[in-house]
Amino acid sequence: MSPKLTVLLVIFSLHCRMTLASDPDPVQDYCIPNTKSGTGKTTRLIVPPCKNSSEATTDDFVFSGIKSIGNFSDTGLAAITVSPAIFPGLNTLGMSFVRADLKVGGFNPPHFHPRATEIAYVVQGRVYSGFVDSTNRVFARVILQGEVMVFPRGLVHFLMNVGEAPATIFGSLNSQNPGMQKIPTAIFGSGIKDELLEKAFGLSPKQIGMMRRKFVPKGLR
Ligand SMILES: *[C@@H]1O[C@H](CO)[C@@H](O)[C@H](O)[C@H]1NC(C)=O
Ligand SMILES: *[C@@H]1O[C@H](CO)[C@@H](O)[C@H](O)[C@H]1NC(C)=O
Repeated sequence: MSPKLTVLLVIFSLHCRMTLASDPDPVQDYCIPNTKSGTGKTTRLIVPPCKNSSEATTDDFVFSGIKSIGNFSDTGLAAITVSPAIFPGLNTLGMSFVRADLKVGGFNPPHFHPRATEIAYVVQGRVYSGFVDSTNRVFARVILQGEVMVFPRGLVHFLMNVGEAPATIFGSLNSQNPGMQKIPTAIFGSGIKDELLEKAFGLSPKQIGMMRRKFVPKGLR
């Protein structure tokens, strides 16, 4: 094969993988990743081959890992994201799910999902909840047990438990890989040059240092 043709083929095959990595209408009922085939590990971009459907079982479509609370972060949030990585049955179905528990006063800082709209249901508690649109208008209020709020795709949103008891929120997202960027970490924890951050936020080098210590993810410090 000529080198030129090889390069073209590589580009073409990469393109195919990227295309498959969006959430298209599935062309089959489901695709339980075939973990036996070696490439069955669910990664961000590579859609693994499916199990032969005659080997699928009811258990492939049930996930019990959100019966209990996840691990709390230092913001008083315990979130479990139910994606094909932990619930393979979701693969190719264009959806994911999240359970979020908030301690009293706990919060989920401003963040967004680049690839999904989210609808959040308050199972218990009083939650100050909202999002900011692309004209920087904020839409926020306290939502109560039994209410839902929708966060449009790609818009910054946030939650805070303003009640006197723990809060639980279930959220459904219309992508199997919604992605998530927390604003404080994206800004101060990503490695953007200090000089730019100082100018952009009108902060001193000392203040930037403080923000970095706070928001650089543990393990990268
Ligand atoms: C799936 O399994 C069935 C039953 O074992 C078999 O007949 C069929 O050929 C398999 N299909 C594929 C695509 O391997
Ligand atoms: C919580 O942390 C423990 C210990 O690090 C870990 O084994 C467990 O999988 C975590 N639970 C969740 C839901 O992430």
